[in-house]
Amino acid sequence: MKKRSLLLCPPAYFSVKYKINPWMNPAVPVKSSLAQKQWQSLVDACNNLSSSVNFINPAPNQPDMVFAANGFFSIGKKAVLARFRYKERQGETKFYKKWLDYHGYEVIDPNPIKYEGEGDTLLTGDMILQGYGFRSDKESAKIIAAAFPDKKVIPLRLVDERFYHLDICCLPINKNLIYFYEKTFDKESADAIKSHFKKAVAISDEEALSFALNSLIFEQTVITNKNANQFTERVSKDGLKTITLDMSEFIKAGGSVKCLANEIWS
Ligand code: ARG
Repeated sequence: MKKRSLLLCPPAYFSVKYKINPWMNPAVPVKSSLAQKQWQSLVDACNNLSSSVNFINPAPNQPDMVFAANGFFSIGKKAVLARFRYKERQGETKFYKKWLDYHGYEVIDPNPIKYEGEGDTLLTGDMILQGYGFRSDKESAKIIAAAFPDKKVIPLRLVDERFYHLDICCLPINKNLIYFYEKTFDKESADAIKSHFKKAVAISDEEALSFALNSLIFEQTVITNKNANQFTERVSKDGLKTITLDMSEFIKAGGSVKCLANEIWS
C-alpha cells in the first residue's frame, strides 16, 4: 500500500440544517457534544494506528464541511478539487482550494463538471473507482483519468439514491478483495467490479444500510460504524481486524467513518 496521511475537519459547525440526501432530516437535531466526542474517537483511533492526521479549519455556514473526504481527491501533489452538486455545499470549495494552494498542490478544477472528491473516487492499487450518477457527473471519470494517467479508471454508475456516493456502497481492500452493495450499481458497473477484483463480495441490505462500507482501512484493520455487526463478522472471516466506533450523529447527515477523512496519497 502507498503511504497515506489523513485530513479531517473538526465538527465545530456540523449540523443537519437542510436535506440533500435521503438520510438527512432537519427536524432531528444533531447532538453537538456527542458529535465532537465521536469525531475525536475517530481521530484517536487513526492516531493509534500510527496514521499522520492533519486538520483543515471548519467554516461557519458550511455544516457538511466535516465530511472532508468530499473536498478533493489527490495523489502526490496533484489534486482534483470538488465542485459540489448542491448549492448548500458549494461554498466549501474555496476553503479546500485554499488548503491545497497553501500546501503547494497543483489543483485541477473540474468546473462546470460536478465532482465530489473522495466521496466518489476510491484509489486501490493501480485502479481508481469513479462513482457517478447522483453527485459526481459521468464526465468526472475523464477528468480523473487525464489527471492520473498511470491509473486505470473504472467508472461506476450508482442507481439507488440512498447510496448517493461511491464510498457508502463500495469498499475495496486490495486487488484481491472488494466489498460492495451490488443493488446500487447498474448491471454493467456491477460486472466491472466483479471482473476487476479476484473476490467481489456483495453485502446484504442490512450491512449496506448500517454504513458498513463507509470505512477506513489500515493494512489489516478496518475502522467501521458500531452498528455494522454483520459486516464485522464477515470481515473477520476474511482475516481482517475491526475497530468499531459509534457514528450516530454523522449518520444523521448521511455519512460515517470514511466520509470524515480525506486520504492523502503520497
Ligand atoms: N450531508 C453530506 C452530503 O449529503 C454527507 C456527505 C457524506 N460524505 C460521503 N463521502 N459519503 O453531502
